[in-house]
Amino acid sequence: MKRVITYGTFDLLHYGHINLLRRAKEMGDYLIVALSTDYFNEIDKGKKTYFSYEQRKQLLEAVRYVDLVIPEENWEQKINDMHEYHIDTFVMGDDWKGKFDFLRDEGVDVVYLPRTPEISTTKIKTDIYGKKGLIIGL
Ligand code: CTP
Repeated sequence: MKRVITYGTFDLLHYGHINLLRRAKEMGDYLIVALSTDYFNEIDKGKKTYFSYEQRKQLLEAVRYVDLVIPEENWEQKINDMHEYHIDTFVMGDDWKGKFDFLRDEGVDVVYLPRTPEISTTKIKTDIYGKKGLIIGL
């Protein structure tokens, strides 16, 4: 069985995320999503999510391409994860191109998939709330 892993925040789950997860699953038989915890998002990634970790996890678990969701708690856990979960392929969107090539030394394939154009969590937030966080049109 070929095992694939990807990492991310996946806040306000959108079709760009679904496209990424679908293509990641097509690369193997079992897809693991390492989902950034609220603490990791706030402290290390500088992101305050709209949905909590448990809410984001629940959404991902409802996606047919996702077999398992595990917590992503720090930048350093990846090497350990590759071995603990017997990973064959590590997949990320190409906004991360080149950043995780070092995982090839652990014997895994590292693949960067093209992002789906014109959609991101940031864009959704900006479109709905505007730059100052105010709700437009109400
Ligand atoms: N992703 C993608 N296409 C998009 C948006 C995201 O393929 N249009 C991928 C990213 O490359 C990453 C994964 O989905 O591999 C999770 O990305 P995440 O950062 O959680 O989503 P974004 O929408 O990019 O969020 P933000 O705007 O907060 O950066």
